[in-house]
Order: sequence, then C-alpha cells, then structure tokens
Amino acid sequence: MVTTRRQFLQDSSVFLSVGAAAWPWMTSEAKEKSMLNKTSPVIVSTWPFGKASNDEALRILQQGGSGLDAVEKGIWVTENDLSNSSVGAGGMPNAMGVVQLDSCIMSGPGHKAGSVAAIEGIRHPISAARRVMEKTRHVMLVGAGAREFALKEGLEVAEMPTEGRRREWLQWKAEQEKSAAKNHDTIALILLAPDGHLYGGCSTSGWAYKLPGRVGDSPIIGGGLYVDDEVGAAGATGIGENVMRYCGSFQVVSFMQRGATPTEACLETVKAIARKDPKGADLSINFIAVDKKGRYGAAGSAQGFSYSVTTPKFSQVETGRAISTKELGPVGGNRP
Ligand code: GLY
Repeated sequence: MVTTRRQFLQDSSVFLSVGAAAWPWMTSEAKEKSMLNKTSPVIVSTWPFGKASNDEALRILQQGGSGLDAVEKGIWVTENDLSNSSVGAGGMPNAMGVVQLDSCIMSGPGHKAGSVAAIEGIRHPISAARRVMEKTRHVMLVGAGAREFALKEGLEVAEMPTEGRRREWLQWKAEQEKSAAKNHDTIALILLAPDGHLYGGCSTSGWAYKLPGRVGDSPIIGGGLYVDDEVGAAGATGIGENVMRYCGSFQVVSFMQRGATPTEACLETVKAIARKDPKGADLSINFIAVDKKGRYGAAGSAQGFSYSVTTPKFSQVETGRAISTKELGPVGGNRP
C-alpha cells in the first residue's frame, strides 16, 4: 500500500511539532502542549560499537543540540576509538600502508549532503564531510583536495596508521594470501531528531589493504547513506562494492516510500540485490533504516548482523533480519 504524503502528515505527530515550532504567535499554553508533541528521538547505527556513538548522539539531542551535531559528535566517538580497525585513525591502511578514510553526512531539511573520500590524516572525516556540506557549493571532495580543505577549516590532524595497524600491514605484505580476507565494519548512524527531521552520517576506513584510491559506498550519497526527510533514512555496512552498484541505501528509502516498514525495506533491498547479483546471497551487505514515524529496523545478506538502537527509554544492540536463500527462488533469480 502506498501512503500519500498528505495521509502521512495527517498521521504523524511530527507534523504537529514541526508546525507548532514555526508559529511564533502561539500562546504559552499551546507552546507547552506542542512540547508534549515533540518527537521522541530514535538513533540507529551499525554494529554493537555504534551504541557508544548513539548514546553520545542522544546526550547531545537531550542537551538541545541539533540533529546534525548529534550525528557528527556521535560518530566522533567511534572515530576516536583507536581499537576500532574500521573507522578513523585506528582504521586499517590500504595496500601501500596509508589510511584513506571515507565519510558522508546528510541533513533531511534542505536535502543537503557533504562527503569526503580517500582523505588522509584527518581525525574526524565526518566533520570534513559536514564542512563540505555547510561551507562549499559542492557535495564531495576527494584525496588531497579533501585534506587541504579540512586543514584550511582547522580540523584536527591525526597520525595514522597506528603502530599496531602498521605492524599488521607489514605482516600482511609479507604473507598477502593468508590475510587477504580481513573484514571491515563501517559506522552508519541515522536518526530521527526531536525536531521531527531526519539526519545521518557514515564513516569508515573501508576495505582493509584496498588499492590506493579505492572508494567504497560510505561517502556515496544513495550508496552508504540516504536521507529523505519526508520518508526515512538508511545506511549501509559491508562490502561497499556490493552496495554502491545498486544505490543500496536509496533503494531502502524507496521501499519505505512505497509503504514498507524499515525492516521490510532493508530486507527487500538485500533480496533485490541478491536476485540480480552473480554473487547471489554471498554479498556481505547490511542495512539499517528509520522512518519518519520513528520505526526502525535492519537486515543483512547473512544471519547475525547486529546494530544499535537508542531512544530516551533504552539503548541496546539488536539483531537484524537475514534473507533466506529459499526466498530468493532459483539461486540468484536473474543471474545469467
Ligand atoms: N562499507 C564500507 C566500504 O566498503 O568501504
């Protein structure tokens, strides 16, 4: 069933709170009532390590910070965690031993986006992405240009790789075939803010020991992240090559626009990709989603994808749905 925007707005308390905040002539009684209609924030992020980011995002929202502040500072927590081998300065380097980071951010209001790819030596790529969005006329900066821009903006530099990651890289170089299967886990964090708007961000060091210059899905709008303020937000983690070829996060939001719940939308997206892709279900992709009503969900191509959900009432790790190969029909459906 397709929900029209009009029906949707009628259903939604969000409409009441956003509308009310914009009416300066309201009586104080009406203002008080509108506070009661404030949306309860819902913050969803990939993996159990996202929970610490969610908690920080919630703290910022509860202190009156904006949705974008919550996304940015929430993701900072994971970017600051040097034990995390997939995000920030603790991330795995590329095949040349250089850490190249990818990140993006989206604001539902204004449908704004900013992104950096293959940026080197900047502690918080999410902040660089936000500055691209807010301070330039562009959406995406890459490589040396992205770094130069971040430095001009006064963003903090950081030594990377860490000593430990460098040792691992040297070992990988010495015996490439054994460690080629190293994994990576992006943080994508999406939220419905108390102002009723949707926001999201993504940050990763990407595929361990990737080719220099390789860019994954995480800085690609519609790939690793997509926010439509009238519908919902979605983010991805896993092998970026299997997400970006299908505009994965955009597909999730499109399914929600056509009436799917966040869980259904994530599941349908993984199924749609698996039906087309020569790899079938062997994709290593996972999606999280939240809709304008504050419903959330997740799904992946394999069992066991865990993600973090935080609201003022709870903060916990949940397990996403997984596609079953039975549902796909004859292995790989459309595959040649
Ligand atoms: N999903 C992150 C990457 O593939 O780079």
